Amino acid sequence: MRKIFLIVSAILIVNSLEANEGKVCQKCHPIIYSEYYESSHRKASAENNPIHKAMWDKHPKDEKGYTCAKCHSPNDLEVLKSGKLVKNEIQTEEPISCIYCHTIKDVQEETNTNISSNKKREFYTAEKGKHGKAKYETKKSWFGLVKEPESSPYHKIDYSNENFYNGNICMGCHSHVNNEHSFDISLLDAVIGKEDKNSCVTCHMPQVLGTKVTINETKTHAYHGIAGIYHKSTSMGEHIDFNLTKTNGSFSVMVTNKSNHALFGQALRQGVLKITISREGKNIELEPFIFERVVGKDGKVTMPWDADKSLKDTLVYAKKVVPFNYTIKKGDEVKVELGVQIISKDGANKLGLKDSKEFTKFRLLKAEKFNF
Ligand code: HEC
Ligand code: HEC
Ligand code: HEC
Ligand code: HEC
Ligand code: HEC
Repeated sequence: MRKIFLIVSAILIVNSLEANEGKVCQKCHPIIYSEYYESSHRKASAENNPIHKAMWDKHPKDEKGYTCAKCHSPNDLEVLKSGKLVKNEIQTEEPISCIYCHTIKDVQEETNTNISSNKKREFYTAEKGKHGKAKYETKKSWFGLVKEPESSPYHKIDYSNENFYNGNICMGCHSHVNNEHSFDISLLDAVIGKEDKNSCVTCHMPQVLGTKVTINETKTHAYHGIAGIYHKSTSMGEHIDFNLTKTNGSFSVMVTNKSNHALFGQALRQGVLKITISREGKNIELEPFIFERVVGKDGKVTMPWDADKSLKDTLVYAKKVVPFNYTIKKGDEVKVELGVQIISKDGANKLGLKDSKEFTKFRLLKAEKFNF
């Protein structure tokens, strides 16, 4: 009875709400909606992300206008057409919306183009063991007295899009971001392989506790807050390994990256490897190693839009060995910590964001201790 009531009340509310489509989904998918609301995808617009705003303010303007919309607010059809960025409900509430992602039929990586199915109320998703399309049906049980809902009364579901199983649906926006000089300023260098155990989705949208829908309760759902830099960063550390090798007079740390892409390639971002040695009750901190890609032109560091070359690249691709010129002694405990800074201190200065400590703080991905 409760289920029938939920469905009827949801449908009534749904029909009274049309503008902010995500709000409709919220009625039946409240947990996923609240995660999405805190995600970098909801916060991808200039309105919702101060770093984006600062960068757009500094960015040179031409007749093409706000080209960032293609990836940062593709749900705002007005700005896509006019190039004029205006604050509106889409920019604040759903710049990359539930419906936008769930109707991506295919992607053209070379041109960063997502091809939409343009179907109303029919969404793609992935679920092992389910194939084809599902329409709303009710299965009779209890001698026909109670109808158990199957699938969704609001929309159809299509389980047959391979791009949702292998992570390709993320690549239209994430494969690369070229500036005016055809230079990639957000290097991810991702390669999706058939044998990969994990995909963009299993690593960044892992199954977490809580039902995916109110009508049919499930134990878990795919995390829509996006595990990564802003959320669940230490769970991302599970995909990174450390190895420490001691040699005469020095030691080195090998960082192994088990993902299918480079780490820390976004413009102004930094990975930070910290070493702390505990010796006879004292802590010795070594100079941290920075993983980053510094970009510029004519040998000088520039803002990302002016760059046409990498001036420095210490990113972690598959593996990276970092040497430290320091002698480890017997009895030492060496703590290795890897973290990420959303933007470098220098980047924050250039963007006029140096007072926003939130963006330059060290976010831990993984820590491990080695004893000698
Ligand atoms: C009236 C309730 C209702 C509304 C409103 C609703 N859904 Fe659903 N949705 C469901 C139900 C029920 C399922 C089926 C879950 C199952 O098969 O176990 C579902 C399943 C899904 C799935 C597939 C989940 C899976 O793996 O089985 C996706 C994707 C989805 N909904 C997206 C959306 C989006 C996007 C919106 C907003 C535009 C939305 N839903 C609005 C009830 C609703
Ligand atoms: C081709 C798609 C695409 C275009 C066009 C694009 N971006 Fe991005 N941008 C991305 C992706 C994907 C990320 C996330 C990368 C990451 O975290 O490694 C990102 C991240 C960022 C970030 C970092 C945000 C944060 O909080 O970490 C900023 C700032 C940014 N973009 C600014 C811009 C600006 C300004 C423009 C327009 C001049 C623009 N981008 C155009 C795809 C794009
Ligand atoms: C960045 C793209 C993206 C956005 C935005 C997005 N989703 Fe999803 N969603 C996905 C992907 C990919 C999956 C498939 C996860 C999997 O393989 O289990 C998924 C899965 C789901 C599922 C099934 C959950 C499960 O555990 O199988 C539901 C329901 C759903 N999404 C609803 C929504 C709703 C509602 C919103 C908006 C509040 C939303 N999605 C926003 C990409 C997105
Ligand atoms: C085996 C797990 C794994 C897989 C598969 C994976 N990632 Fe990652 N990803 C990580 C880890 C670990 C990090 C580093 C922690 C962080 O910065 O969030 C990361 C970081 C990122 C970042 C931030 C990069 C930056 O500049 O700092 C983006 C964007 C991203 N991944 C997108 C993707 C996309 C798109 C795919 C699919 C092609 C993917 N990831 C596949 C584990 C994974
Ligand atoms: C419509 C374009 C688009 C699609 C599709 C998309 N993203 Fe993003 N993603 C972005 C943008 C833009 C940003 C940067 C957000 C910002 O500026 O704050 C971002 C940021 C991220 C980040 C880094 C920030 C963080 O919170 O760690 C990760 C990881 C990520 N996306 C993973 C994914 C995955 C996994 C998928 C596929 C399920 C996906 N994205 C699909 C545009 C997209």
